[in-house]
Formats: sequence, C-alpha cells, structure tokens
Amino acid sequence: MHLTTVVPVTLAALASAKPCPDEKVKGLDYYAKKAGLQYFGSATDTPGQRERAGLDAAYAQYDKIMWGGEFGSTTPTNGQKWLFTEPQQGVFNFTEGDYTANNAKKHGLSLRCHALVWHNQLGEYVNQVQWTPETLRAQIVSHIENVAGHYKGQCNHWDVVNEALEEDGTYRKSVFYNVLGEEYIKLAFKTAARVDPKAKLYYNDYSIEWPSKKTEGAARIVKMLRDEGIKIDGVGLQGHLTAEGGVTLDQHIAAIKSFTDLDLEVAVTELDIRLQEPATTTNLAQQKEKYKNIVGACVQVKGCVGITIWDFYDPFSWVPYFFPGEGAAGLWFANFTTHPAYDGIVEALTNKTAPVGKGKGKGKGPGKRSLWA
Ligand SMILES: *[C@@H]1O[C@H](CO)[C@@H](O)[C@H](O)[C@H]1NC(C)=O
Ligand SMILES: *[C@@H]1O[C@H](CO)[C@@H](O)[C@H](O)[C@H]1NC(C)=O
Ligand SMILES: *[C@@H]1O[C@H](CO)[C@@H](O)[C@H](O)[C@H]1NC(C)=O
Repeated sequence: MHLTTVVPVTLAALASAKPCPDEKVKGLDYYAKKAGLQYFGSATDTPGQRERAGLDAAYAQYDKIMWGGEFGSTTPTNGQKWLFTEPQQGVFNFTEGDYTANNAKKHGLSLRCHALVWHNQLGEYVNQVQWTPETLRAQIVSHIENVAGHYKGQCNHWDVVNEALEEDGTYRKSVFYNVLGEEYIKLAFKTAARVDPKAKLYYNDYSIEWPSKKTEGAARIVKMLRDEGIKIDGVGLQGHLTAEGGVTLDQHIAAIKSFTDLDLEVAVTELDIRLQEPATTTNLAQQKEKYKNIVGACVQVKGCVGITIWDFYDPFSWVPYFFPGEGAAGLWFANFTTHPAYDGIVEALTNKTAPVGKGKGKGKGPGKRSLWA
C-alpha cells in the first residue's frame, strides 16, 4: 500500500510548513464549547464608556483578552440601549453599539444584542411625552424598526423586552405598561420578529435565577406570547448575584429547567457576582462557589445555551458605581490576574455530570466564527 508511505511524509511537510489552524486559546469559550454550550461571552463597551475608570494604560491588555479568543460572544454593555440609539425622538445614533458589533465581526465573536424595550436608560423624552396608546405604539415600532433594522443579520440573540416585572411577579409600572398594558410586550416581540426574523428573541430579567414569583411571572409572559402565536425563543437570566447570597446549584437548575420545560432556550446574560469590599480569601472563595453554581447549572440543564459575564475586568464593572461598598464582581482583578472564580468556572465547565431536562437548544447555534464565515 503506497499510501502508508506517502501520507506520513505529506503530513510532516504540512506540519512544518504552517501552524496548526485549529490552535485555540484554552479559555472560557473553549471549555464552554467542550461542555456543549454554544459560547462563553463577555459584555464590553466603547473606550469612551470605560474612560470613567481612568485606566487608559490598561486598554491594550484588556483588548487582548476581550478579542483574543478567551470569549466567543459579546454584548454591548450600553451601546444598543435606547439612551444611545435614539437619544432624541427620531434621531438615531449607532456609534456606541457599532463599536462592539464591529469588533465582534472583526474578531469572530457572535453578538448578543441588548436591549430594545426597557424602562431604564431611555431618552429623556420617553418619560416626558404625553403619549396616547396610538402614539406610543408608533414610537415602539419605529424604535425597533430602526435599531433592530440597523443590526439585522448581526444578532445571534436580541433582548426584546428587558425587566418588565416587579419582584412579586406583577408588571412593572413603566411608561410602556402605564399606557399600553401588557400589549407593549406583544407589540415589541411581534415587531422584532418581523424586522429580524433570524435573531433568537429573548425576554431578559434579574431575580429569575431561582424559583420565585418573578420567575413564574417570566413564564407567564412566555405563555401569553405563545398563546397568541407570537415568537419568543428564549429567556435571559441576568445573573447579577452576590458572593454572600444563598442561591444554591439546585435552585439555579430548577429555575433554568422551569423555562427549558416550556421548550425555550435559556442564556445567562449578564453574570457578575459582587462582594463586600475588600476582597478577602474568604469572600473570594464564596464568590468562586457561586460562579460554579450558576455555570454548573447552565451546563447541566439541556437547553441552557450560553453564558455572558457583564464585563470581565473589575475596573470596568458597573458594580462599584451602583452598589457602593461592593465590587470585585468580575473575573480579572485590576492587575489582570484572575479571581479564584475563574478556576471555579473551568471546574464547572469540565464537570462530567450528565445533563438533566428535556431542552434541546444545546450545541445547535452559531459556534465561534460561524456567524461571519
Ligand atoms: C453619536 O454618538 C457618539 C458617541 O456617543 C457621539 O460622539 C456623537 O456626537 C453622536 N452623534 C450625533 C450626531 O449626535
Ligand atoms: C493582583 O491583585 C489581587 C487583588 O488585589 C491581589 O490579591 C494579587 O496579589 C495581585 N497579584 C499580583 C501579581 O500583583
Ligand atoms: C459536579 O456536579 C455535581 C452535580 O451537580 C456536583 O455535585 C459536584 O460537586 C460537581 N463537581 C465539581 C468538581 O464541580
């Protein structure tokens, strides 16, 4: 058989001629994909948004981690929100959002888009105009047509409606709800489905990472949309958690399963786990355990498709600005060494425990680069 003599020579020649094309950074995205998830991502922002941290010198090192293969997906932390995309009525601006979208494209990451209809970070006029149901409907449709239209074809997921619920599971009394009732949720999903039919459409919220009235409320929204034949593909569990908090692995599994049992996919969309400053051996160990729990739950429930952390670098995190006295919520300290939680996540991603649940979302979505190939 002459092939046996020819093939080894050819392979050897190829090996010495060029580096292995499959060489991958063995980072969080690598381990997530090996565990059957579609991606492990990090939110990021424009340097303009990060300047408040006054850390210009860190940008090069930050960008190397952000775009260098550690992550397979990204989300603009702020840039696609209403405040930036339609700061004045009918005036659209995509500079901030495009920064993250263009870098995702350039570096082969998939893009989770965030967020079309949310009560917070709105253009000021949204809370000032005396809307009638008719004018507010037109405003919502125009906003979604312009923003989702601009990003059409680029978004793996869209968070269509964000944080529509109070902690007790009733609707939040936002300007949208006060004028339109739950109709605004249907209108937003219907419009997004028409404008970007290929994006997976998500309802996104916090405090739905464990079973609660609010978690039931999110399931109610899903059923309401489904009953009317309106497309919804997934529920996003934000995952802004605390190291000291008591949520267990089993509680995360139960909450995720409550959604995948509805034949939905689930993503952990804004994960960060803050602690009371200063960071100590004790609270960093607690933080590691909590990161392991939620990542482990996502790995173990079929239909949980991916995880996004809400920036990986502590100095660029929103936490110290929003929760005074708390911080160190990410995975990289200011000096670019990693938290013990980083190793905890790798442990959770390499845990061989068999998946539970009947979801079917896993492993079927866009892998790294496939969106842009
Ligand atoms: C659009 O947004 C960018 C970034 O925030 C800003 O620098 C620019 O001035 C805005 N453009 C207009 C026309 O307002
Ligand atoms: C980096 O910062 C962390 C947190 O402040 C600290 O615990 C660690 O010792 C530092 N490592 C180096 C190499 O400076
Ligand atoms: C793996 O998962 C199982 C089941 O959830 C859990 O009990 C165990 O502690 C995990 N092991 C590691 C090393 O994380």
